[in-house]
Amino acid sequence: MKTTIKTLLSTEMQDKVCVVMGTRPGMIKQSALVRALERNGVPFFIIHAGQHYSPELDRVFFGDLGIPEPLYRLETVKNFSTHAGQTAEMLKGIEDCLFTERPRAIVVGGDANCNLAGALAARKLNLVVCHEEAGVRGCNWNVPEGHNRTMIDHISDYLFAPNEAAAKNLENESVQGKIRVTGSLIVDSVRENSLIACRKSTILKTLSLHPREYILITIHHEETVDYIEVLSNVIEALKLIAADTGRKIFFPIHPRTGKRLREFGLWEEAESIAGLHIIDPQGYFDFMTLLSNACLVMTDSGGVIQESSILHTPCVTISNYTEWLETLECGANVLGGTTADGIRLAAGKMLSSACNWKDPFGGGSASERITSIIKKEIL
Ligand code: UD1
Ligand code: UDP
Repeated sequence: MKTTIKTLLSTEMQDKVCVVMGTRPGMIKQSALVRALERNGVPFFIIHAGQHYSPELDRVFFGDLGIPEPLYRLETVKNFSTHAGQTAEMLKGIEDCLFTERPRAIVVGGDANCNLAGALAARKLNLVVCHEEAGVRGCNWNVPEGHNRTMIDHISDYLFAPNEAAAKNLENESVQGKIRVTGSLIVDSVRENSLIACRKSTILKTLSLHPREYILITIHHEETVDYIEVLSNVIEALKLIAADTGRKIFFPIHPRTGKRLREFGLWEEAESIAGLHIIDPQGYFDFMTLLSNACLVMTDSGGVIQESSILHTPCVTISNYTEWLETLECGANVLGGTTADGIRLAAGKMLSSACNWKDPFGGGSASERITSIIKKEIL
């Protein structure tokens, strides 16, 4: 089968769909789709693209979210640490799996490199490429998430847009594929898991915390943590906010962020801040519990920005932009920028929020809508 360069003919494909996941947020969002595919009897299999591999960014989510074991797990991707190297290894690995399984369609979600690799491998084989979170713009084109999302949109056959504005962006860009407004999978994930999280998680007790008395922070994006001046500003902001508010600040640390703090010689400074607690990355149930009970979250994570507005926790985005404009418009989130003063000011403002905004993401069910389209129009 793999002896020549060729696309797959429709007659060589089987009526099943490949779901690609490879990063922490991908596992979280795709878990909602996987459940819907199971409920509706749609044949599928999972490729774990191997971009995230540390147990706390990977295995823990399979356990928490009950995701079935992937049929394929790309184990060698962890050996590559450049964008091209990592993406190429996933591209080749995913192509091998697709040649073997010959599914009719592939579903990738979001803006990480593993999604670009999955979409491109499938495009070249002529599978039906489906992209969740299509059409979301507002991210800087120069950052990986900005160009990845746009590139995937332009090689997809089905564009599952989270909202009308995203659909409009896709129309304006004259994409080739069919545009469908489905909503966001992260909404389904929060709805399906936040109640379980409240029941199962003991994290507040473990950390001796009471609701609404502490602040949470997560950062890991390249443009926040890979530049010493930006990362120093964030640490300075944490020092100021801890002193201003006297509140404890919990910082579940992404491995990339931990490595950069050490490389830049900022780790000791961070650890010495009174009230700042650096902790391991958390499993989904514990993180949901920490997030929904915090008085404020500060983050550069697209997923956390959306979740905080659904859970009614005020948010400061540590960046000059966000693609989730609805969270700014409803008052759930403000842009803190990347200076210490900007982040401090934004934190002060959001700590006095009445938290009475209307959930900007609506009722959910993106997973059912996407499954129904796959069933009726693709397989
Ligand atoms: C990736 C995505 C980002 C997404 C994030 C979710 C891209 C370009 N970036 O960023 O959009 O928001 O995932 O968390 O796709 N590392 C580990 N263990 C792991 C994974 C990473 O130690 O399991 C370390 C490695 O040093 C690695 C570095 O973190 O080189 C960066 O990992 P990578 O997956 O390239 O980017 P993220 O920052 O995780
Ligand atoms: N998350 C988690 N544990 C943590 C930090 C985040 O479970 O310690 C979850 C969070 O609830 C959200 C997702 O991870 O659903 C966001 O992933 P991340 O911030 O890595 O990526 P992004 O959303 O920026 O792409």
